[in-house]
Amino acid sequence: MLILTIVCAIPYFCGKWLDYKMDNKLSDQAQVEVVAGFAHLMSKTFKGDVNAACWQRTLSGDFEEIVAKLELKANLTEVSMDDLEALELSAKGDLARAVILDDFQLLTAAGASPSLNLIKSYERDEAFDFISTDVYSFHVDRSPIGTDTFLCTYYGAASEILANNQAEQKVLVPAIREKLRELYDGQEEEFESFLTEHYFDLHYQAKPGAIPVKLGLGQLWRLAVDHPDQQCLPCIHRAPLEKEGEYRLLLIC
Ligand SMILES: [Fe+2]
Repeated sequence: MLILTIVCAIPYFCGKWLDYKMDNKLSDQAQVEVVAGFAHLMSKTFKGDVNAACWQRTLSGDFEEIVAKLELKANLTEVSMDDLEALELSAKGDLARAVILDDFQLLTAAGASPSLNLIKSYERDEAFDFISTDVYSFHVDRSPIGTDTFLCTYYGAASEILANNQAEQKVLVPAIREKLRELYDGQEEEFESFLTEHYFDLHYQAKPGAIPVKLGLGQLWRLAVDHPDQQCLPCIHRAPLEKEGEYRLLLIC
C-alpha cells in the first residue's frame, strides 16, 4: 500500500517541480536576464546565451474585467487605446487599464509600435503534418533591421520560450528535411532559399526532456530577434494553446 501511494505521488510531485522550475526560477535560466525596470529592459545588450530579458513585476488591477468588457470582433482583435479608454470600469479595472496605457506609452516613446490584442485563437497552419509555420510552433522572429520582440500577457495563457540548446531547427531534422525536399522541385542550390521563403527555417522542435520557460502574467519581456546585427542566437518562443472559453490579452510589438 505504501509503495502504491509513493508511485501514485510521483507524477504529482514531478508536476509540482516542473511548475516551480517553469514559473519561479527565471533568474536560474541562462538565457534570461531579469531586470528591475523599463530602462534596464531597453538597455540590456543580448550576448552569448542571454537572448531574453524580463521586467519582472507584480501588477495590481483587474485585467479580467477588461477582457470581459472588450468586444471580440475577430479571433484576433486589435484593441485601440481609444477603445480601451472608452471602457466603463471599476476602480480595479481602471488600475489595470492604467498599466496597459503606461506600457503602451513607454514602448511607443522608445520607438516601438505596440499592439494590444484580444485573442481567441491564432490562425493555424495545417498544410503539412510534419511541419507547421504558425505561432503555436516553436519559432524565432526575423527582421531585416535591428529590433527585438516585446510582449506582455496581461490575461490568459502565457507564451513560452525555449533555450536554444534544448531545441533543434526543424529543417535540420533528417526526416523533416527529407519531406521538405520532396515538396521542392527547383534547383538544388536554391533549396535553402525555398526553406527561407516559406518560413520553414524559422521553426524548431523541442529536444526530448526540454523544459520551456513560461513567460508569466504581467511580465514585460524582450526577446532577441534574428537580424543582421544580433550578437546572440534569436530567442525561440511560441504562443500557448488558449484555455477553453478564455481569451488572452496581450501587448506585443
Ligand atoms: Fe514570434
